[in-house]
Amino acid sequence: MKTVTVSSFKGGTAKTSTALHLGAALAKFHKKKVLLIDFDAQANLTTGLGFDPDEHDSMAPVLQGNKTIDEVIKKTQVPNLSLVPADTWLERVEVTGALAQDRYSHERLRKILDPLKYDFIIIDTPPSLSWLTESALIASSHSLVCATPEFYSVKGLDRLSQFMNSISERHPLQVMGVLLSFWNPRGKSNDAFLDVIERTFPNKLLSQKVRRDISVSEASVMGKPLFDINPKSRAAEDFKSAAKEILKRL
Ligand SMILES: Nc1ncnc2c1ncn2[C@@H]1O[C@H](COP(=O)(O)OP(=O)(O)O)[C@@H](O)[C@H]1O
Ligand SMILES: [Mg+2]
Repeated sequence: MKTVTVSSFKGGTAKTSTALHLGAALAKFHKKKVLLIDFDAQANLTTGLGFDPDEHDSMAPVLQGNKTIDEVIKKTQVPNLSLVPADTWLERVEVTGALAQDRYSHERLRKILDPLKYDFIIIDTPPSLSWLTESALIASSHSLVCATPEFYSVKGLDRLSQFMNSISERHPLQVMGVLLSFWNPRGKSNDAFLDVIERTFPNKLLSQKVRRDISVSEASVMGKPLFDINPKSRAAEDFKSAAKEILKRL
């Protein structure tokens, strides 16, 4: 079982779209058994798969010890793809209930996921270095870094790299790849961005990039992966190839 945290410490780097489409591609085209965990109280992954966050439990009661994970896993419309939805209870979950007293609360997610039997667990994280993000990385064998070809995005990669290194000193976390989204093949500063990424994460940049494509947000409004709505779109093709490249790297 590979547990993958999708992270960037920033908003708008396509973390949620990547988690959703990587999960959907592995389930649909590679017959992998996949569990997606929405670990962001904004619940964009949850709504992106057609679920109403107000109607379902999230990881919050599981982390608090009030429910088992099996009770909160939902089957999605994609065969082999399941989801633990998010809700607003995830926000500040670490300072409430049983977690507030637990000095080792960061380890809880790892212990909850350990006994599960999936080929892949993919965790979508909030846009900050929060308790949720740290718990997700501690629970993961791999991280997938999301970035966009913009200076504010690549500048933050250094901090992310240092943070992940500090976690990997005590846990088996490895960077699986860096995925660039909102890619413009003719962008003037592309070489400069690629340079920064190569320096920060040597040999980790995926050669497949996800081009800017309005159909990504259209699909999220319809609550389905692009593969089921607009399979010929540029982004659908890019996500499909990126999933293949990631599998090859593993
Ligand atoms: N390749 C892309 N082209 C165009 N829009 C995209 C692309 N990837 C994501 N988006 C849109 O950009 C916004 C931010 O993406 P999202 O995946 O939610 O990022 P994050 O989770 O990092 O905040 C969303 O509205 C999403 O639909
Ligand atoms: Mg998101």
